[in-house]
Amino acid sequence: MILETRNLTKIYRVGKEEIPALRGVNFTLEAGDFVVINGPSGSGKTTFLNLIACIDKPTSGEVYIDGQPTSQLSEGQLAELRKRKIGLVFQTFNLIPVLSAYENVEYPLILLGVSRKERYQRTMALLEEVGLKDLANRRPDELSGGQRQRVAIARALVTNPKLVLADEPTANLDSETGKQVMSIMRRLNEEHHVAFLVVTHDPMVTQYAQRTVKIRDGQLFDGGRTNGA
Ligand SMILES: Nc1ncnc2c1ncn2[C@@H]1O[C@H](COP(=O)(O)OP(=O)(O)OP(=O)(O)O)[C@@H](O)[C@H]1O
Ligand SMILES: [Mg+2]
Repeated sequence: MILETRNLTKIYRVGKEEIPALRGVNFTLEAGDFVVINGPSGSGKTTFLNLIACIDKPTSGEVYIDGQPTSQLSEGQLAELRKRKIGLVFQTFNLIPVLSAYENVEYPLILLGVSRKERYQRTMALLEEVGLKDLANRRPDELSGGQRQRVAIARALVTNPKLVLADEPTANLDSETGKQVMSIMRRLNEEHHVAFLVVTHDPMVTQYAQRTVKIRDGQLFDGGRTNGA
């Protein structure tokens, strides 16, 4: 089991108001799984991913990454865990604008202290896998939305994480490009045996899932397994 959440709750406090964003979420993700969590705006999707990525802390409950409970870890230990085990893909791609596609993908390997030669091999291999080897020297503003998201996917995979978290990865893409991006994620999921957890309001994305879970008002409803696309 690469990920488990136990009775996870998150209550945001704004002044005197309490906003319950997650209400006791129990969830497990097996190694190599591809799960889509689908639900409307405000249902708690981003909150859930932020807690799993240890970017934010729950009000109560526990997140286990690769068997390890995360609530007692220091900030430094959490940063290490994120760097080594988790890849992130965002709605707005979040590439560094002044860096080329190559440099964006290479960046997490610099943070891990990987040698230049190995960085080159791993970065080029991932760029090739997402079909962007020939565009390696372009900056993000010289790439289309779909190409930018493919750079972001390559960056998320280059460290060989066990888990990739994607928040609305198709929201800024037209539907055809969105499908291409989902196909690439599904292929990398199988080839690298890395688990994906994708959250989205877009029902199209659920076609690509091995398992779909619905989220509503901070609660999950498991929709069971399919073969995926
Ligand atoms: N920092 C915050 N402070 C207060 N309330 C918040 C905060 N972040 C989110 N919320 C509230 O928590 C609930 C869940 O928000 P969240 O962003 O997780 O939803 P979401 O499913 O990702 O929505 P979307 O599809 O619009 O991205 C919403 O009611 C939201 O208003
Ligand atoms: Mg969101």
